[in-house]
Amino acid sequence: MPVMQGKELRIVGFLCNWCSYGGADTAGVARAEQPTDLRIIRVPCSGRVDPLFIVKALLNGADGVLVSGCHPRDCHYSAGNFYARRRLEVLKRFLPVIGIDDARFEYTWVSAAEGQRWQQVVTSFTERVHALGAAPRIEDAKPFLKVADMALKPLRTLGTGKNAPLEKLKEAIKAKLPELECVIGWQKGYDDIHTTPLFMKSAEEVDKLVWGPLNVVNTANYLSQFKGKKVGIVVKGCDSRSVVELLQENLISREAVTIFAMPCEGTLDVARVNEKLGRYTIVNAADSDGAGLLVTVDGKKHSLAMEELAQGKCRCCTHPSAVLTDVLVGDAPQAPAAAPTPPELALLDSMGLEERRGFWRGQMERCLRCYACRNACPMCVCRDHCVSDARDPHWMTQEADVVQKLFFQTIHALHLAGRCTGCGECQRACPVGIPILALRQQTARAVEELFGGYKPGFDPAAVPPLLGYEVEEQNIRETRI
Ligand code: FES
Repeated sequence: MPVMQGKELRIVGFLCNWCSYGGADTAGVARAEQPTDLRIIRVPCSGRVDPLFIVKALLNGADGVLVSGCHPRDCHYSAGNFYARRRLEVLKRFLPVIGIDDARFEYTWVSAAEGQRWQQVVTSFTERVHALGAAPRIEDAKPFLKVADMALKPLRTLGTGKNAPLEKLKEAIKAKLPELECVIGWQKGYDDIHTTPLFMKSAEEVDKLVWGPLNVVNTANYLSQFKGKKVGIVVKGCDSRSVVELLQENLISREAVTIFAMPCEGTLDVARVNEKLGRYTIVNAADSDGAGLLVTVDGKKHSLAMEELAQGKCRCCTHPSAVLTDVLVGDAPQAPAAAPTPPELALLDSMGLEERRGFWRGQMERCLRCYACRNACPMCVCRDHCVSDARDPHWMTQEADVVQKLFFQTIHALHLAGRCTGCGECQRACPVGIPILALRQQTARAVEELFGGYKPGFDPAAVPPLLGYEVEEQNIRETRI
């Protein structure tokens, strides 16, 4: 077939060796006319197609990507295409959040005998991509910096935990301490408005434990380094969901962890606190009035009200109390009903694809590639095998361009699909304040919509949706071409 509309576009096809590659061959042998835009990469099974392949192609100039495997139930490895179907459907729902039209990516099934179907699939997908035209490049988008409105009304009353029974919690920890290697919590940091992790090994160290809106660090991030040892951990509601996720993935064992909890009244958004305080040299004092902190810096008094400066995740929090505990101190408040769309994601929802490309271009230009987001993530557990560091295969260059940086963020978000509990540590740790939590929130929304309202971090015995499959998926209608 002649080149469509006089211009060949770049379409990458990942075809399973056993069926679709054979189907394409059958079409060729039968001399079926096909558009010439598709460049085929043969893979052993559609289950081998990591979303990383597709994102890399789309960010690096492909105008469309097609994945084709054996029909469901016909996979040569029995279930590779069932796993692929879940991953690829999540990816399809994720792409628009970074400004890529999801119509540029499709997956389907073609058997080796279906030469005619292959011809129809490749023709109709190529026509679709031609109708969309050449893909706009993220690096060509006009930077569009907009800030999320974090002043969303909180679902519940936020406070500073001033009246929380901290002494009772300390007593409970001291009673358990002889059985444990240490207990992870928080202590006062280098000044009165910062806290740092605390690893309690003695009663004196337990006395350093603090509780309040400055306990922003997710203590679960330190848990897996104690694998094989008996440890305790003090958690907020969001931290406890990370503990559950680590249990689900067998990164820690339930018998080895003692969970201490108190109901959380919210934490402060440190970036916004710094913005409010401006440049300062010394913190003279910090006190709580129950609704916020009263802080004196360089002799000047400031009121840091929780209603105004709490983290976005705390405003939408439905589980202020730990979802799994051994020792709960204080009364668990009633869990608020369903959460609204988080502010970071609501901001992206309000934009079109072009604006989103501009938004991420602007944000990625500010990214330092420091990987604080990865290091602060309790669920980032690949260690030496992270795509950002691996040299074999070499997925990313060390160039500081927007494509490399967005590629990393996209992969980070997709690796967390069905695992991210929304603790927001990635965003909090970002030294330049990039709202990267929005990417995780979009994968979480896709997983929730697709897999019966599944939310990570609630059931230690649950199988994360992307590690399983249903032969008949309720919410996936994949036959689009
Ligand atoms: Fe073809 Fe698994 S072998 S999809």
